[in-house]
Amino acid sequence: MKILVTGGAGFIGSAVVRHLIEDNDDAVVNVDKLTYAGNLENVASVSGSKRYFFEQVDICDRDRVEDVFRRHQPDAVMHLAAESHVDRSIDGPAEFVQTNVVGTCTLLEVCSSYWQELPQERRQSFRFHHVSTDEVFGDLPHPSSDPQAHTHLFREDTPYAPSSPYSASKASADHLVRAWMRTYGLPILITNCSNNYGPYHFPEKLIPHVILNALHGEALPVYGKGDNIRDWLYVGDHARALRLVVAEGEVGETYNIGGNSERQNIEVVHAICDILRDVQPAPRWLQQPGEIAAGDAVDSFDYRSLVTYVTDRPGHDRRYAIDTSKIERELRWKPTETFESGLRKTVRWYLENEAWWRRVLSGEYRLTRLGGSKR
Ligand SMILES: NC(=O)c1ccc[n+]([C@@H]2O[C@H](COP(=O)([O-])OP(=O)(O)OC[C@H]3O[C@@H](n4cnc5c(N)ncnc54)[C@H](O)[C@@H]3O)[C@@H](O)[C@H]2O)c1
Repeated sequence: MKILVTGGAGFIGSAVVRHLIEDNDDAVVNVDKLTYAGNLENVASVSGSKRYFFEQVDICDRDRVEDVFRRHQPDAVMHLAAESHVDRSIDGPAEFVQTNVVGTCTLLEVCSSYWQELPQERRQSFRFHHVSTDEVFGDLPHPSSDPQAHTHLFREDTPYAPSSPYSASKASADHLVRAWMRTYGLPILITNCSNNYGPYHFPEKLIPHVILNALHGEALPVYGKGDNIRDWLYVGDHARALRLVVAEGEVGETYNIGGNSERQNIEVVHAICDILRDVQPAPRWLQQPGEIAAGDAVDSFDYRSLVTYVTDRPGHDRRYAIDTSKIERELRWKPTETFESGLRKTVRWYLENEAWWRRVLSGEYRLTRLGGSKR
């Protein structure tokens, strides 16, 4: 397949691009605006391939998107381009509506016209795969207030109840994509996935933020009481699931994707601290080395001592958890990494790829707090 991937220079998009080129025979057209979150270094390992093409294009720019479709003639679209950070959506929601809603609408309009002109056989096999989040479902009961909380999971038919400007914009995009099938017949697929983590994760998100702050001996900020629960999936497992869905999923269907790994945020932070204590017994890039590593090197620094509780995020969802039985049953997908194995790989990746994150951090973002309370 020749697959047009939007957002292929981002965290998950680049894992998808690498998977399509390295583990499959697909050709990829990576369409990315290269916002602060897009980084071509994320796809450097495949950019020399004859099956890889890059187009720096904003999905809101109809003329340029049309031109990309006309020149590349894709067999499928995997749509990942988005503004993706909840805290940024609290500080500046309009950008989220622009890319996630207007951009998705523009892409659907262009894609639909292109699809209608395809010869019969290609029209039938064409797919538009929209990549979305479990955050569209709002939040689930939390075990602290409901002893039966564990029986509540997000299923494909869970009603939408988004809480943040980010999740509301993604929910709007999901609705548009379904409407394009119902109204125009565009063969669509939707996936809703839980929190991803892994290599090339932009350091404003919880896991890379904690890893890098810990390695610098800096405070590890934890929102509220740290008991909000997320389900975590290793990004490589997500990329595999997405390739399966676009190739074998049933048209018009939605698939939930998750890691069956519910963890409280504080558990995630503690797990990172414990792995670091094992693989990197002293913080490696101390800002003021004297503060912690006075005298000889510390042989076993307690990274947990860096945890600092900060004011909760406004509207913070309490718990997400995913029922993955549909994709497991129908497409025979299962995650290969446990949370523990995936997290260990991730910590090692950040230790071994200092040049990558140094360049990212030297840009706009500098480990500052986003999404403060505006209420
Ligand atoms: N990160 C997660 O845990 C998670 C979980 C479930 C679903 N998702 C969804 O997966 C997708 C990818 O998430 P991510 O974490 O990789 O995001 P990301 O922020 O790392 O990457 C987004 C990419 O989209 C590009 N982009 C942004 N606006 C664009 C525009 N107007 N035109 C073209 N390109 C544009 C950026 O340059 C960047 O490369 C998003 O749609 C997100 O909602 C993410």
